[in-house]
Amino acid sequence: MGRSIVLASGKGGTGKTTVAINLGIALASAGKKTVVVDADVAMANVGILLGIERAPISLHNVLMGEADVKDAVYEGPAKLRYVPAALSLDKYAKVDFERLRDAVKELAGDYDFVIVDCAPGLAKDAREAIKAAKEAILVINPEPASLADGLKVKAICDREDVKLIGVIVNAVTGDRSEIKKVDLETIIGAPVIQELPEDKEVRKASALQEPVIIRKPDAPFSRGVRELARKVSGGAIPEPRIKKGVFSSILAAFGIK
Ligand SMILES: Nc1ncnc2c1ncn2[C@@H]1O[C@H](COP(=O)(O)OP(=O)(O)OP(=O)(O)O)[C@@H](O)[C@H]1O
Ligand SMILES: [Mg+2]
Repeated sequence: MGRSIVLASGKGGTGKTTVAINLGIALASAGKKTVVVDADVAMANVGILLGIERAPISLHNVLMGEADVKDAVYEGPAKLRYVPAALSLDKYAKVDFERLRDAVKELAGDYDFVIVDCAPGLAKDAREAIKAAKEAILVINPEPASLADGLKVKAICDREDVKLIGVIVNAVTGDRSEIKKVDLETIIGAPVIQELPEDKEVRKASALQEPVIIRKPDAPFSRGVRELARKVSGGAIPEPRIKKGVFSSILAAFGIK
């Protein structure tokens, strides 16, 4: 049985879809059979970012009970496979998210890694996407609003028995105002698996509908994603560092209760 990992954030725009695709390609290039599932059905970004827009059978058909998930798997770049969401919004209302869990389970029977790209927010679609996977990675930006929403995602993971394996801090600039890694680990209680830099090549690549890890393999973001893939697949994720006795004061400092 393969591993199913959902990338979740609470707050929108933290980089989930970008990380999902590039991590998927890194894992696939390292010889792991990998599929990315676009569970953000309202936005359907995965296919767009891969530059592939036509998909006769999508996750919507699977969630409506019209198709088996295996028939909704398409070939992406560098041996990556993906399950797209449909672009048309009128289908959105009819989907049954409860079917997502079965679909992910079925894929985990065939793949080493099933990466689930989650919708932002904590509405039903996002919650069901989190519940569909066995493991979760929080994708946040180094800012308080992102962290506060991340804590809500952590609460969902705990409640639903989804293992939060760690945090990706994306779009790090190194500015002194950014939240520090040790503070994050103390607050969230999970390790920061990878810090990924703010990198102008990421936005350029997404505008060109080409994954940055393929377009610019030596860009700082691409290097970081390959490191991330090694940690995720090698299981070498360190324990979080927890600062003792300062938990509530850190939360207060960030305006989180
Ligand atoms: N490390 C980075 N450096 C620079 N730009 C980035 C980085 N990561 C993501 N971006 C850009 O930020 C935007 C949002 O990224 P993305 O769509 O992956 O976020 P998301 O969390 O999936 O958003 P949503 O919550 O809406 O699904 C995109 O334009 C993307 O190119
Ligand atoms: Mg997204």
